[in-house]
Amino acid sequence: MTLQIPASLLPTDGRFGSGPSKVRPSQVDALVTAGEAGRPVLGTSHRQAPVKDVVRRVREGLASLFDLPDGYEVVLGNGGSTAFWEVATASLVRDRAQHAVFGEFGGKFAAATARAPFLTDPEIVEAPAGGVAYLAPSDAVDVYATPHNETSTGAMAPVRRPAGDALVLTDATSGAGALPVDLRETDVYYFGPQKVFGADGGLWLALCSPAALERAAEVERSGGGRWVPEFLSLTTALENSRKDQTLNTPAVATLVMLADQVEWINAQGGLAWSAQRCATSAQVLYGWAEAREWATPFVAEPAERSTVVGTIDLDARIDASAVVGHLRAHGIVDVFPYRKLGRNQLRVGMFPAVEPDDVAALTACVDHVVEQIA
Ligand SMILES: Cc1ncc(COP(=O)(O)O)c(C=O)c1O
Repeated sequence: MTLQIPASLLPTDGRFGSGPSKVRPSQVDALVTAGEAGRPVLGTSHRQAPVKDVVRRVREGLASLFDLPDGYEVVLGNGGSTAFWEVATASLVRDRAQHAVFGEFGGKFAAATARAPFLTDPEIVEAPAGGVAYLAPSDAVDVYATPHNETSTGAMAPVRRPAGDALVLTDATSGAGALPVDLRETDVYYFGPQKVFGADGGLWLALCSPAALERAAEVERSGGGRWVPEFLSLTTALENSRKDQTLNTPAVATLVMLADQVEWINAQGGLAWSAQRCATSAQVLYGWAEAREWATPFVAEPAERSTVVGTIDLDARIDASAVVGHLRAHGIVDVFPYRKLGRNQLRVGMFPAVEPDDVAALTACVDHVVEQIA
């Protein structure tokens, strides 16, 4: 017999993915109306005013959302956060980086600098999945790198600058726009548009301090024989960004959806509003899990539990993949755990587009499914 979740329990929108994440209808409407005088901007040149105007809206909107400190600049390029790891490896690390690794994504950036033949092997500070590794002051490194929010495990770390003058690079791919941050605590705060900003992937955005931009200029000009491919050059990306364009052709639809979302968040009350909304959703999710004897927040330390990507372990008696399957059959999608984590777990994206009431509805649906299958 197929399990039925009563319609009265279902959320208004069933998209709880950790990226790509829920896109709001008005972002989709913007795809049709974003051009001059409401004319379409899709299918038009990225070197002309209408698309450059969308890039300008993104850059100005982000500057406002993050209260950009003096001298910081919004830089963007193609290839997503994965490409930005290579940009940072090529353009920002002078000799050696320290990486905080507490999940897949922190580990991937560490692997990128370890592979670079012109760099000394990185220092790694590591914590097991479910915890947070904190950057440790070191005289031996010129870059510190840490995730803000480790999407693979649902652990978040505060953005804090260790003493000294090494650059701090913060991977905010899944946290930017929903976690509180003071940008003076970091030199590069980089992210993609497919999480909090509800757009598609394929772009990277980096809020860069003057020190970071100076470092890129220094590394790229140094006569030390380092070849920085144009595509990985932060100074080239900066020159293009200042002209409201990217080095090569961007996905125009992503830019339009991103601009709409940044302006929506700003209009609702900015970062404080967004952070509070996600914290409310997170309270619902973790509170629910703590009240069930068969569910446990995966991240043990409450302060390290992400308010944007919640991970909930289920008791071994309950097959999480069966729960995920029943939910999907009812239009509640993408609550599976990170594929390489290998846990009996639900992972819930609670980005600002997601209604906190829908998170509550999701938990009611999980209760219903578990009652039926346990
Ligand atoms: C924390 C974090 N860093 C980096 C990435 C990689 O981003 P992209 O797919 O844009 O390369 C992701 C993707 O999920 C992520 O969550």
